[in-house]
Amino acid sequence: MFNVVIADDYDLVSSEAFKIMRSVLTKEKPVLGLATGSSPVGLYKKMIADHKSNNTSYKNVITFNLDEYIGIPRNHEQSYYTFMHENLFDSLNIPEENIHIPRGDCEDMEAECARYEEELSKYVIDLQVLGIGSDGHIAFNEPGVSFDSLTHVMELTEQTRRDNARFFDDDINEVPTHAITMGLASIMKASKIIVIATGANKADAVYGMVKGPKSSDCPASILQDHDDVTVILDNDAASRII
Ligand code: F6R
Repeated sequence: MFNVVIADDYDLVSSEAFKIMRSVLTKEKPVLGLATGSSPVGLYKKMIADHKSNNTSYKNVITFNLDEYIGIPRNHEQSYYTFMHENLFDSLNIPEENIHIPRGDCEDMEAECARYEEELSKYVIDLQVLGIGSDGHIAFNEPGVSFDSLTHVMELTEQTRRDNARFFDDDINEVPTHAITMGLASIMKASKIIVIATGANKADAVYGMVKGPKSSDCPASILQDHDDVTVILDNDAASRII
């Protein structure tokens, strides 16, 4: 069952997400599942502002990121390792050893997938933050992926690479073709999930997630089976479900 929250603008969407984040941060050792991309940036800004003004401590927080591009080094300006440090981690006091981001620069990616899933299995994610792709992907689980998938390597769809070209000087050829990603089954183990989506280009994917048939054609539709998902939308992203 989805709890759907619709807010008027991106700042209010981010505030709604932060309310849920704040409640989870009261736990003794919160375990956070984190996403990259544009959607959670406003939430991350609010976490940083709260840390600075209210001294909210992150020293016991453990994080797991959803995914990473394959074929670019960690220090690449568009790696998700760089993104997370620039947009969140560098401004909080999470111990570096508590931060988990899958590696996309390993020779043996199968071994890296197994290692990451093994590390994940030692914890239960208290709050998983998700965005959604315009093709219905969550993390980098693209249409056609198995609902039983654990951490795996995924070929990115042309649509995803086109959507993400904006981070690569609008050159689709610069966007990696593959990523390592937590699987749908890995994501479903989280106790609580929020999905943040804004903009008209997400309206069809949001419809597929909330109202569409449960099908791997829209990977996010698996969330229909989770009992604690809050979908936080602006009016444009919500336009097909209201
Ligand atoms: C990122 C991720 C992706 C994005 C999705 C939406 O870690 O897992 O699923 O959440 O592609 O991206 P934005 O928010 O940039 O529209």
